Amino acid sequence: MTAFFGAHPVHRDQRPVRGDIGSAWRVRRKSNGLCRWQILRAFPPLRCRDCAMKPVVLITGASQGIGAAIAHVFAREIRGVSLVLVARNAKNLATVARRCSKLGATAELFPCDVSDESSVAGLASAVEKRFGTIDVLINNAGKFEGAPLGEMSVTQFDRMIAANLRSVFLMSRAFVPAMAKRGRGDVFNMSSIAGLDAYPGGAGYCAAKFGVTGLSKVMRAELKTKGVRVCCVYPGATWSPSWEGAGVPATRMMPAADVARAFLDVYRLGRSAVVEEIILRPQLGDL
Ligand SMILES: NC(=O)c1ccc[n+]([C@@H]2O[C@H](COP(=O)([O-])OP(=O)(O)OC[C@H]3O[C@@H](n4cnc5c(N)ncnc54)[C@H](OP(=O)(O)O)[C@@H]3O)[C@@H](O)[C@H]2O)c1
Repeated sequence: MTAFFGAHPVHRDQRPVRGDIGSAWRVRRKSNGLCRWQILRAFPPLRCRDCAMKPVVLITGASQGIGAAIAHVFAREIRGVSLVLVARNAKNLATVARRCSKLGATAELFPCDVSDESSVAGLASAVEKRFGTIDVLINNAGKFEGAPLGEMSVTQFDRMIAANLRSVFLMSRAFVPAMAKRGRGDVFNMSSIAGLDAYPGGAGYCAAKFGVTGLSKVMRAELKTKGVRVCCVYPGATWSPSWEGAGVPATRMMPAADVARAFLDVYRLGRSAVVEEIILRPQLGDL
């Protein structure tokens, strides 16, 4: 065991800094002669200073649209950030990762279907092995399909629930307990204005996004005493490939980069403040 025990694996080869857990360990070892195991039990929140300054940020749905924009803004603005980019399309993820690397981030892709329980379990163990506990979980992956209630197939409805809601539950269950144990973390759940107000044709999507709203409120209630901040995000129409062919001009919507910027600004607040909800709309209102 080295003085850097407890550091994220990605930081283990870096030099200790004054006042880090290593020096605390040496002082305690000298003063009371506890063995390493006893020290680890007695002082569990092991964390290297590099980790706090160089967060590990996991983004689902990072292969395009708002998720890719979030990756770009974190890569550009947070020096030393490590990005865990998750989606199913590895080729698109690789393109986003390359751009993030050029912007100065460590960016790695982890192709995964986040609505599938065993795939998420595999993802969690691969990420843990590579990066240790993550600092920020951005549950952004989602999908829209609209149809009136009577015309929506059960398969379509299930697809909406799986992509937009089940995914948030599975990812949070896989990654949040470690944050809570460590006493620090940030979670962003992507809802939508469709998770605040219903509209015709939104049977599957609105049901799923209202579900994300409810799940986020539960997470906030459970995690507020554990150092984990939970923010639920409600964007209105935002330009992304999901709008292609819809016949709505991009200028009538918000740019994905503006929505992404809100995540970064909220993350950067001091840790005694939490933004529980972000509602963003195009200046001209909903479509
Ligand atoms: N654009 C808007 O107007 C708007 C408004 C409000 C809320 N939102 C929400 O914002 C989020 C992003 O939207 P967007 O417009 O950027 O959509 P998008 O362009 O269609 O991107 C969706 C992303 O989610 C990923 N994804 C979908 N299902 C997945 C699954 N099962 N497992 C892993 N990744 C999956 C997709 O990647 P792969 O296909 O490669 O897996 C893609 O990266 C969604 O949750 C959406 O509901 C969007």
